[in-house]
Amino acid sequence: MKFFVDTADIDEIRDLADTGLLDGVTTNPSLIKKAGKDFLPLIAEICEVVDGPVSAEVASTDYETMIKEARKISKIADNIAVKVPLTPAGLKVCKELSDDGIMVNVTLCFSANQAILAAKAGAAFISPFVGRLDDLSQDGLDLIEDICTIYGNYPNWSTEVLVASVRNPVHILESAKMGADVVTCPPNVIRQLYNHPLTDKGLAAFVEDWKQTGQSIL
Ligand code: G3P
Repeated sequence: MKFFVDTADIDEIRDLADTGLLDGVTTNPSLIKKAGKDFLPLIAEICEVVDGPVSAEVASTDYETMIKEARKISKIADNIAVKVPLTPAGLKVCKELSDDGIMVNVTLCFSANQAILAAKAGAAFISPFVGRLDDLSQDGLDLIEDICTIYGNYPNWSTEVLVASVRNPVHILESAKMGADVVTCPPNVIRQLYNHPLTDKGLAAFVEDWKQTGQSIL
């Protein structure tokens, strides 16, 4: 399972990249607004920090403007993935870019049928939003299960399931059980994965006992 971080905060990205466990980055217009920096140079900087795919989203909704934005974004770096919304215009842009060998991440997916369309349009990634479905009292993980099952039935489709709108470690655990290819998570959710009280308790005991041996490894 690949781990992407869902942020445009360059300091957070550098910090997580330093762990060696980060496989990519996803951003969206809301995260760019939160970062408060100029979009194009910020994305270029992120692409230098991380080797894996960096998703940067188009801003317009009509095909004519979207394709121009998408082409411009695609030239930022070799590891860029152009993010487009799951709309007829977005999927048309997706098909064109994918045919040219450019990675496309189709975002705002809330149904398995939408995920089928994205796969047919050649998307490199489909981004189903788990947390936002949960917010509506609909189990977002059911959607991940459906998409993983459907994509598994068509091995010639190369679209990866990128679980988005992740809010907690359970979303990651269950997505991994279902065989989802990627999770994109806020930095704090990735850090939560390290934690277990028995790890802390056990380590404290080992440190204390080692001290009492009076030995040194180095
Ligand atoms: O980047 C798309 C997605 O991960 C957004 O998540 O928490 O705003 O629903 P959220």
